[in-house]
Amino acid sequence: MSDEFCKPAKSSAPKQGGKLLDVNIQPVQGPMEELPADHTLVLKVIPRPSDVNANGDIFGGWVMSWVDMAGSVLPARHAQGRVATVAVNQFVFKQPVRIGDILSFLAKVERIGHTSITVNVSVYAERLERQGRYIKVTEATLTYVAIDNDGRPRPVPNRVIEPPGV
Ligand SMILES: CC(C)(COP(=O)(O)OP(=O)(O)OC[C@H]1O[C@@H](n2cnc3c(N)ncnc32)[C@H](O)[C@@H]1OP(=O)(O)O)[C@@H](O)C(=O)NCCC(=O)NCCS
Repeated sequence: MSDEFCKPAKSSAPKQGGKLLDVNIQPVQGPMEELPADHTLVLKVIPRPSDVNANGDIFGGWVMSWVDMAGSVLPARHAQGRVATVAVNQFVFKQPVRIGDILSFLAKVERIGHTSITVNVSVYAERLERQGRYIKVTEATLTYVAIDNDGRPRPVPNRVIEPPGV
C-alpha cells in the first residue's frame, strides 16, 4: 500500500449502556496534506465514542458544532467582543471522522464587512497510528456578525485582516 494512504476502514463493536455499538476505530483512506500556512490553528479536539452516528463514524452535527466554535475565534478578535453566527455559507464533509482522530481546526478570515466577518474553516484529522500526517476531513465557510449587548449588529472595530497565528 502506498505511503500516501492509510489502511482501509474496519469496525469494532464496543458496548455503550449495554447496547452493541458499531464504532469504526481504524484509519480510512485519504490523501495526506500539508496544513495551510495562511490559516491559523484555532482549536484541537478529539471525538468521543458518544459522538458517533449510526454508521459508526462521527456525527456530522458534532463536527458542525465545533466548526462553528472554531470559526468564531478570529471574528471575536476582530470584533473585540460578542459575535453571532449569521450564516453557514458552505459546508463539505470530505472524509469521515473516526474515533481516535486528533482534529485540528484551522481558520482564515476571508472578508470583513461593516458588521460581518466571513471565515474559512478547514478541519484536518490525524488518524489513529498515523499521527503527524494530516487528512482534510471538512471545509466550511461561515459568516459572523459583531453584536452589541442588545444583540444588534455593530461595526467591526478592527477591519485589518491579521496574518496567520494571531
Ligand atoms: C446576526 C443578527 C444579529 C444580524 O441581524 P440583522 O438585522 O439580520 O443584520 P443585517 O441584516 O444588518 O446584517 C448584518 C450583517 O450580516 C450580513 N448578513 C446577513 N445575512 C447574511 C447571510 N445570510 N449571509 C451572509 N451574510 C449575511 C449582512 O450582509 C451584514 O454584513 P455587513 O454589515 O458586513 O454588510 C441576527 O440575524 C441574529 O440575531 N441572528 C441569530 C444569530 C444566532 O443566534 N446565531 C446562532 C445560531 S442559533
